[in-house]
Amino acid sequence: MTTNTPIHEAVREHYAERITSNASCCGSDNCCGPESSLYPSELLATLPEGESAISYGCGDPITLASLEPGQTVLDLGSGAGLDCFFAAKKVGETGKVIGVDMTPEMIERARSSAKRLNLNNVEFRQGYLEDLPVESDSVDVIISNCVINLSPDKSKVFAEAFRVLNSGGKLAVSDILTDGPVPSAVKQSLSAWAGCVAGAVDTKDYIGMMEAVGFKNVSVIPVFFDKATVDSAINELGDTIELKTISRDEVYKAVYSAKITAYKL
Ligand SMILES: C[S@@+](CC[C@H](N)C(=O)[O-])C[C@H]1O[C@@H](n2cnc3c(N)ncnc32)[C@H](O)[C@@H]1O
Repeated sequence: MTTNTPIHEAVREHYAERITSNASCCGSDNCCGPESSLYPSELLATLPEGESAISYGCGDPITLASLEPGQTVLDLGSGAGLDCFFAAKKVGETGKVIGVDMTPEMIERARSSAKRLNLNNVEFRQGYLEDLPVESDSVDVIISNCVINLSPDKSKVFAEAFRVLNSGGKLAVSDILTDGPVPSAVKQSLSAWAGCVAGAVDTKDYIGMMEAVGFKNVSVIPVFFDKATVDSAINELGDTIELKTISRDEVYKAVYSAKITAYKL
């Protein structure tokens, strides 16, 4: 069973609490930096007036995706909908954007924002990345922002992404990866998992899982060592004995944010 595991449950509870308390960012602190710093100002300027940039992301998959009018886009783990709203502007009325997320509170927020913004080319579906509620061979571009690291079955997520992409389709995601060991106390913590750190896997394993399901031309470009995300995830462990034994430097060195692209050829 790759859906509704205890990890899914912990992640869902975490993000339901984040959105219902109107908190931006993934962890207890301002983990991802000011959300506006993730996106170029020209892109932020395309947000309809009155829409706040609620982001739980760790990068800018929109610029990475180079979207064009008329394309069908799928956002894996769409959260409050920010990347879908940017994508909707880029693909225009002839295009279509689908956001999938397992947390009902996120879907509700994203749907009500889309309605308020009068966006008719965006649809939000509740579901799991490991069992996408999307037809096979129906999507031109898949985007995702800081979500795949949260899945306990990343191979299944990549297999599902590959299934729904059209031939020639592109995957463009921002995600957290690791390069080197992460202390086991951090790895075992469900709250550190929900804060986008414990679930992150080594770069070569990540690439290996993508290639194993058929993705070609996989590229991983490191963006920044995200100290704030790490601090937030570790702080969530509370004042435990494990916390005192963790070398933060070791975690800072290992965990980073990346831009990932790959193709179904
Ligand atoms: C870190 S937030 C990112 C949200 C959004 N992409 C953004 O940039 O603001 C992770 C989101 O992914 C969703 N999520 C995590 N694991 C998931 C899974 N296995 N299936 C579906 N949604 C998932 C969570 O509910 C949450 O809304």
